[in-house]
Amino acid sequence: MKSTPSKFGKTPHQPSMWTRADALKVHADDPTTTQPLVSANFPVLSDEVFIWDTMPLRDIDGNITSVDGWSVIFTLTADRHPNDPQYLDQNGNYDVIRDWNDRHGRAKMYYWFSRTGKDWKLGGRVMAEGVSPTVREWAGTPILLNEQGEVDLYYTAVTPGATIVKVRGRVVTTEHGVSLVGFEKVKPLFEADGKMYQTEAQNAFWGFRDPWPFRDPKDGKLYMLFEGNVAGERGSHKVGKAEIGDVPPGYEDVGNSRFQTACVGIAVARDEDGDDWEMLPPLLTAVGVNDQTERPHFVFQDGKYYLFTISHTFTYADGVTGPDGVYGFVADSLFGPYVPLNGSGLVLGNPSSQPFQTYSHCVMPNGLVTSFIDSVPTDDTGTQIRIGGTEAPTVGIKIKGQQTFVVAEYDYGYIPPMLDVTLK
Ligand code: FRU
Repeated sequence: MKSTPSKFGKTPHQPSMWTRADALKVHADDPTTTQPLVSANFPVLSDEVFIWDTMPLRDIDGNITSVDGWSVIFTLTADRHPNDPQYLDQNGNYDVIRDWNDRHGRAKMYYWFSRTGKDWKLGGRVMAEGVSPTVREWAGTPILLNEQGEVDLYYTAVTPGATIVKVRGRVVTTEHGVSLVGFEKVKPLFEADGKMYQTEAQNAFWGFRDPWPFRDPKDGKLYMLFEGNVAGERGSHKVGKAEIGDVPPGYEDVGNSRFQTACVGIAVARDEDGDDWEMLPPLLTAVGVNDQTERPHFVFQDGKYYLFTISHTFTYADGVTGPDGVYGFVADSLFGPYVPLNGSGLVLGNPSSQPFQTYSHCVMPNGLVTSFIDSVPTDDTGTQIRIGGTEAPTVGIKIKGQQTFVVAEYDYGYIPPMLDVTLK
């Protein structure tokens, strides 16, 4: 990677690599890194809407925060269309699979609230129609800023383009529930630059999204993680010795893996409000390994930086594979070097018998992992499926040094607060 001038004077770090050798260690169905089977009898949050990526309200240090005893989550959300002629099949039945698969194109940010950290009640849309500058409101992070209830929602404004943006509003509570007010002025922050992060012009399948701002517990500065791809024209990337890693004889052939170029991006704020950002080189690259490292986020534990990111089977490169789920890396300092957790990176994957049961995992600092239900087979052959679009059972993991272990399973959508803020 070329170094880019930055306010640090020089490039502060070399990106760490998730190598093909690391990925060869990924094994589905290891019980310590596999999500328990999700039953096809799951309850749904709503018959009116699908939800997927779930973003719990938190503070800038990563703690899941309730306000006046109310937990709040934001979700990517799309209407279900059981009666829309466009989603009826030849027999006049609702084609829920097609409706679900189309959801990304009409994703909007909604919020939900709860007294119990589960049993979520729908609050509604965060931004009124017309506020967000693009068609799609894609994932990000809501940050509770203060005891006045101010919230900065960082998210991705997609189609046209993909811009990391933020919008400020306020959370208001009563005895009966929560409402979000404001969220009227969206501020664009930055887009891919084509030098460190791939642009749409370089690759129509580029990824640039999912901001996750945080304060570095060690240097106290404001940073942001995001998903990217390594800059360069599609097909121009090299999968060399470093990207391959230490593989056994017979594993040197990289096939067409140059097309998979995911990275975890990082930016540093130039101001305390997080209105002015400078992109830095990626923290982690997966060139020749995987094309998507989505929704990157941290857990800060035992003085270490645990970097988590979600990825798919279908985005792996030739010759390597792994389940849909959450992967993780650990370092002693923010800029690495990062090593894959459990040797491979895999932290919590779907079981091979239900490869699409859950996705978009978010590891919280209390070791609880939330995700949504995508689809669960309803027969033994796996040909019949039930679409989810709702919260999955929460899983508990234990993080110990460079290893993680699945240790518990909780209720659907259980996202308990780690601290409560009383609003002034
Ligand atoms: C993960 C994800 C995010 C994106 C959103 C789009 O499930 O792909 O990266 O913001 O879903 O729907």
